[in-house]
Amino acid sequence: MRWQSKAAILRLLSRTPGGKQCYLAGQRLLGTTRPQPKRDFTRAIELIEMIRESGQSVRDAVVYEIGTGWHPYTPLAFYLAGARLIETVDVNPWLSRRSARTAVAAARPHLNWFANSLELNLEEIQNRYERVHQQAGTLNDLLSSMNCRYTCPGDATCSGLKADTVDFVVSSNVLEHVPEPILKGMATESQRILKPGGLAVHRFNPGDHYANDDSRVTTGHFLQFSEEQWQKYGDGLAYHNRLRCPQYSRIFRDADFLLLIEKTRVDPVVLDQIQGKTLPIHEKFKKFPPEDLAADYMWLVGMKSSAQNQNQLQSQGERLTPSMTPQTKTH
Ligand SMILES: C[S@@+](CC[C@H](N)C(=O)[O-])C[C@H]1O[C@@H](n2cnc3c(N)ncnc32)[C@H](O)[C@@H]1O
Repeated sequence: MRWQSKAAILRLLSRTPGGKQCYLAGQRLLGTTRPQPKRDFTRAIELIEMIRESGQSVRDAVVYEIGTGWHPYTPLAFYLAGARLIETVDVNPWLSRRSARTAVAAARPHLNWFANSLELNLEEIQNRYERVHQQAGTLNDLLSSMNCRYTCPGDATCSGLKADTVDFVVSSNVLEHVPEPILKGMATESQRILKPGGLAVHRFNPGDHYANDDSRVTTGHFLQFSEEQWQKYGDGLAYHNRLRCPQYSRIFRDADFLLLIEKTRVDPVVLDQIQGKTLPIHEKFKKFPPEDLAADYMWLVGMKSSAQNQNQLQSQGERLTPSMTPQTKTH
């Protein structure tokens, strides 16, 4: 589909009463909300691996997920890996009992691979999986059988949770859809609810999402537009903040996080376009180096640092493995 057509449809649905439900129905019709357990487990595994890389474990953890989406694969993965409680919130009501049930059922053939990927005990994973009440009469009952509580609409800038009670605040493919002032609020709230030493663990996609649907455009395509032009294409259901990776890092640093992981992936096609000057770059983005403009993925871990664990980190300096040392890595 041409990106302009998709933008026009999403713009119309965003402004029409009942548009969200039409969007959901359209997605079901086109099959774009079919569960993709391997893809979504892979993403959840990345979150869990970042937690491990930062020297912590998911077992018995309390997790707060921002942006549940259509299928609860992140909560399911954290539950299978031993989390005690997963609070998940979304602003949109995409999750339903039906989609949760389908997602859990579709996960079964991948349990072996999931356990192997994380070097977890397969029998324990299978036992945990069997405890999920797939035939539950309500979405909440199904989710609570996997230690999960869902709030929608939920506000991650004002979670209602007590201070210092959460081990990990996580998200997958969400932060790029959040306006900058709200992102700042989320980082501040994460800092409040995390236990000292707790982690904000996020993976997200700062590239132009229309590149997924239209092969004529690249993940850097939206960098040519002014804010005013972009509002026509990237608002409402298509909202993308177009922030570049260093801006995300800055938001978490300003909220007093100590950044342990900042990895980015650069799209080589966009890098070529920028260096060959075949992609016009709007004035707004000219202050960024080409690699930051061409980044189409970011993995970020920030630690809630207290005076105590700052000192600990400093004194343990030599004991940290290279990947646990605060870093910026591009791959
Ligand atoms: C691309 S989907 C990703 C969903 C899920 N995390 C996954 O990986 O499948 C982005 C999700 O973020 C949600 N979202 C957007 N802004 C949000 C906000 N301010 N607070 C919570 N969720 C939000 C959207 O409603 C949507 O469900």
